Amino acid sequence: MSDFVLHGNIIYSKNKDEFNIVENGYAVCKNGISEGVFDTLPEEYKNLEVIDCQDKIIIPGFTDLHVHAPQYGFRSVGMDCELLEWLERHAFPEEAKFADVEYADRAYSLFVNDMKTGFTTRACMFGTLHTDSTIVLMDKLEKSGLKTMVGKVNMNRNSPDYLREDTDKSLADTERFVQLSKRFENTKPIITPRFIPSCTDELMYGLSEIMHKYDLPVQSHLSENPSEIEWVKELCPWSTSYGNAYDRFGMMNDKTIMAHCVHMTEEEMALMKNNGVFAAHCPESNMNIASGISPVSRMLEEGIKVGIGSDVAGGTTLALNRAMTLAVQCSKMYWRYIDKKYKPLTLENVFYMATVGGGEFFGKAGSFEKGCEFDALVLDDTNIKTTVDFDTKERLERIIYLGNKHNIASKYVCGRKIF
Ligand code: GUN
Ligand code: FE
Repeated sequence: MSDFVLHGNIIYSKNKDEFNIVENGYAVCKNGISEGVFDTLPEEYKNLEVIDCQDKIIIPGFTDLHVHAPQYGFRSVGMDCELLEWLERHAFPEEAKFADVEYADRAYSLFVNDMKTGFTTRACMFGTLHTDSTIVLMDKLEKSGLKTMVGKVNMNRNSPDYLREDTDKSLADTERFVQLSKRFENTKPIITPRFIPSCTDELMYGLSEIMHKYDLPVQSHLSENPSEIEWVKELCPWSTSYGNAYDRFGMMNDKTIMAHCVHMTEEEMALMKNNGVFAAHCPESNMNIASGISPVSRMLEEGIKVGIGSDVAGGTTLALNRAMTLAVQCSKMYWRYIDKKYKPLTLENVFYMATVGGGEFFGKAGSFEKGCEFDALVLDDTNIKTTVDFDTKERLERIIYLGNKHNIASKYVCGRKIF
């Protein structure tokens, strides 16, 4: 069933600073695509099934623009490390276990089930360097009904023997991964060099070729941690910045996601903006592994495309409502301690980032504007009601700050009911 109408209190972004709020309104879905939101149901839709959501709040789904599926199992452990130590001690040993497809099957079942039952309708994620296990992940995601992009990770240097590929195998496996993933409809491949310290120049140029040959998107990490950035300077002495190195490999375009973007030079900011690169802001991870305070309000204000990422297991939770509140809180620290020129993020800003900001990486998604793919969350705030009378925006704010997945009464992706 993908032709129907949701009737209830509808909220979606008008732009990055304003909501459209239609109380007691009608959100119309035909063939999985939004026809728009109406105060009264237009005559032409009168024959569609109307699903009465009563006093509940209806919003577009959230996109998790950066998450590591294989790290789900150890989240909340190792939070006393910075990035490079955390990778060596926690991420690499766990990811190595995904050489075993049966282990991957069990671990990825838990991950996909949590994502399926939460706020996320779309996600871009890293697997591991193991092609077959990453296909297992994609198979589960395909069955979940979520819209996702998944990367077989590439890494051929600076990791232990047990989690390192040689260049030829890495490239051949990436081609095989692209071929195998053709069987999926909702789950698409994305080229995924882990980050520059993990990939030689030769591997990066090879991946760039595959990217352009199959017209694929790409995701990686950029300027997350000061030691990482110093390391990239040594590894790529020919580059003018970390971002410039990716650009020289042909990987900074409007189908690119760069996670973190915490310690950005002016040159990197301009590159992100001019090339239409998406930034995935991951506030919880930035605090947990002490990476820093991202200039996210500045990026948003200057017109850089920004979405929100959980970055599990740098982040501990897939609950994007948590990531949204942490983004607001981190932006207050940026404003207070780093630069008074950029005001803290508002609820409208982070809602926009979690819906439209990340949704745009998939095309037209993250809104109920006519023509967008129809993803929706129907939210029930009964359990957090108090004696205070809140308006619709305040009710949404409280669900974002206080709620969890149990406040989601139903969820739709491309007009398909997930639950
Ligand atoms: N940089 C390279 N790999 C990773 C990772 O797994 N997590 C985070 N947060 N940053 C990275
Ligand atoms: Fe990450």
